[in-house]
Parts: sequence; C-alpha cells; structure tokens
Amino acid sequence: MLNASKGKSARREWLTFVDAASEPYRGAGHFAWHFARGKLRMDPVFRHLLGHGLIRPGTRVLDIGCGQGLLASLLGSAAALAREGRWPQGWGEAPVDVRVTGIELMPRDVQRARAALGALGTKAQIVCGDMRSTAFPSADAVVILDVLHYIGVPEQDAVLVRVRECLGDAGRLLLRVGDAAATRGFCASQWVDAIVSFVRGHRVVPAYGRPLSAWIARLESLGFDVQSEPMSEGTPFANVLLVASVAPGGADKT
Ligand SMILES: C[S@@+](CC[C@H](N)C(=O)[O-])C[C@H]1O[C@@H](n2cnc3c(N)ncnc32)[C@H](O)[C@@H]1O
Repeated sequence: MLNASKGKSARREWLTFVDAASEPYRGAGHFAWHFARGKLRMDPVFRHLLGHGLIRPGTRVLDIGCGQGLLASLLGSAAALAREGRWPQGWGEAPVDVRVTGIELMPRDVQRARAALGALGTKAQIVCGDMRSTAFPSADAVVILDVLHYIGVPEQDAVLVRVRECLGDAGRLLLRVGDAAATRGFCASQWVDAIVSFVRGHRVVPAYGRPLSAWIARLESLGFDVQSEPMSEGTPFANVLLVASVAPGGADKT
C-alpha cells in the first residue's frame, strides 16, 4: 500500500517535469507537442538522467542526434523548477546553468527544436548536421540516446573516437544502445525505430547494432570506465544506458 502510494506520487512528480518540458513545443506544432509528452512520459531514460544527477550543474552538454531537442528542453525547464524550489527530495544535483549544443540530421526536427527552445528562453544551440562530419565542440558530457545504430559499425567507432577527443579529463559519455545479443528486444526496438523514422519523414533507417559486451569493450579501449544499466523499463526493448566516464589517465588504447 505504502509502495503503491509512493509510486503514484513519484509519477505525479515526474508529470510536472513532463508538462514543463513539453509546454514549449505547443508553438512548434501539434505533432511536436504530443511527441514530446509521449516520449518524456514513456521513456525511462529522461527521469533516470535527472534523478541520478548524471548531468552536473554548470556543464557543457553535447547531445548528438538530439531530434527535436527534448533533452535540452527538459534540462532548461528542470533548472527553472529547481530555482523555484521544486526539485524532488532524494534526486541528484539539479542541472542548473548547463549549456547544450545539439546536433541533428533532420532539418524539420532542427526547426522544431529551435522553435521550442527559443520559446523556453534557453541558450541551447542546435546545429543541423551529420554526426559523421559535423565538428564536435569541447564538452563535459556527451549524450547519445538511440542514435548510433543509424550508421555502420566503423562509422560508429569513428564517432566514438571523436567523442572521446572532445571530452575533458573528467568528461562523461551517456550512451544508450540496444543490446543486439538480446535478440527479441533488439529487433522490437529496430522495428519501432524504423516505423517512427518513416512516420517522421526521416530518410535514415536504423540498422546496425552490436552486443552489449562489444559496446563496453569498445568504450574501454578508448579509455572509459563503463557502467551499464538496463534502460527500457515499461517497453519491450533491450536498451541499455552506458555511463562511460573518462578514466583517470585514460588514454586511447586502440
Ligand atoms: C531515435 S531518434 C532519438 C532522438 C533523441 N536522441 C531522443 O532520445 O529523443 C534518433 C535521432 O538521430 C538522428 N540521426 C540519425 N542519423 C544521424 C546522423 N548521421 N547525424 C545526426 N543525427 C542523426 C535522427 O534524425 C533522429 O532524430
């Protein structure tokens, strides 16, 4: 009984964040607003990032494949809630004063992101470009959520090398990937991604994965300490969040 009421109040608490982060999308069109609300409500990764304080205050964040800029909107609106004293007890530090740069391939998503983030009044910068060729600015945290599987494995590796180069000595990569070893969940997420990509008019199709152990080995070879956390609660997927911190003296071992 106590647990059920705790769960209810946690869900209500999270809805405040969902409402605040999706509100700026109203002016960016019906689809943009509904998509923002649905994604923030259903996808456990956003609450996890905030609740565990994985984006530290005052940091420079690079969000690669940022879509319509949901993470930037969430960080901006969460900081505003924190300033009003509405930061939930027991959560990690609030992400106040973070500066977000997003990189996104699809011009329509870039437009939606810029419209929403402009309405929110954040200083986020959204660059329209391909992660394979767009320069990465220096960053304290790089976030890549469900994006690398759109490009081939050698290209993924090239992006990861450049991510490591743009992170400082205390930097952190937050990378969500599908575990290709968990065949059923991985196929489910590839199908859903392909359908969503089609509906959103994207010309890229997700196709390339690798088993979790291979992701971790690759990141370790680049000098990261890696922790993994299942991150698809409430969905049929096999997604995992990799929290990869630059290891002390962590040079590229490739
Ligand atoms: C599944 S969506 C995830 C969006 C966002 N990371 C999120 O979690 O809300 C994948 C995004 O990656 C973008 N993308 C795919 N290939 C890309 C590339 N080569 N360069 C930049 N963005 C890319 C897609 O356009 C799409 O917006």
